[in-house]
Amino acid sequence: MRHPSLLAPSLLAGDHAQLATSVRTVAACGASWLHCDIMDGHFVPNLTFGPETLAALRRTGSTLFFDTHLMLAEPQRYLEVFAKAGANLISIHIEPIYDHRAALRTIRSLGCQCGIVLNPGTPATAIEALLDQVDLVLVMTVQPGFGGQPFRRDMLPKLQQIDQWRRERGLNFRLEVDGGIELSSAAECRAAGADTFVAGTSFFKSNDKAAYAATIAAL
Ligand code: DX5
Ligand code: ZN
Repeated sequence: MRHPSLLAPSLLAGDHAQLATSVRTVAACGASWLHCDIMDGHFVPNLTFGPETLAALRRTGSTLFFDTHLMLAEPQRYLEVFAKAGANLISIHIEPIYDHRAALRTIRSLGCQCGIVLNPGTPATAIEALLDQVDLVLVMTVQPGFGGQPFRRDMLPKLQQIDQWRRERGLNFRLEVDGGIELSSAAECRAAGADTFVAGTSFFKSNDKAAYAATIAAL
């Protein structure tokens, strides 16, 4: 089945001294999702924020859907703490070695939706056996770690492959893209099967964020 298009603005590109303001900006433009990038300086060469930041943003009263992207070498150690902090969906990468299936089950048992993520260098076949276990597949369209990188158009065939498996198997997960997304790359990803669009730099730089969100929703 084909989900309606949905924008998930990435907090990474917001003002880190005013994260609560960034969250209000996201809600005010009509977006319902907020993409939260969690980095540990090991799996990726950068650091962001942790569960206490998420919990504090939740305590401001935000009802946004916290789409939590864990870029961690040992994500299985941090599932409960992010669930308790207010994550609605927790995505974990396939590349580190741990029991992915068990971790996905744990995320669901904590009352969250679960997602699996692939780096640009990871083939679609790496997650093929997990497709019936997830609520979302996130195809990275940049090497994770930093915002503001150019979109990797060579990821489009990977999206098409995963979308084809989804249709053939009658599955219903969302197909999300993250990295270098703006209106034209989003349209290309939509044509390749994506329905969920993370946008950091392009969203926060946009002068009319409500129009930006509406344009993505209309793809
Ligand atoms: C990259 C992060 C992204 C990042 C995208 O490591 O996973 O979510 O915020 O930023 P832009 O949209 O600027 O490419
Ligand atoms: Zn992300």
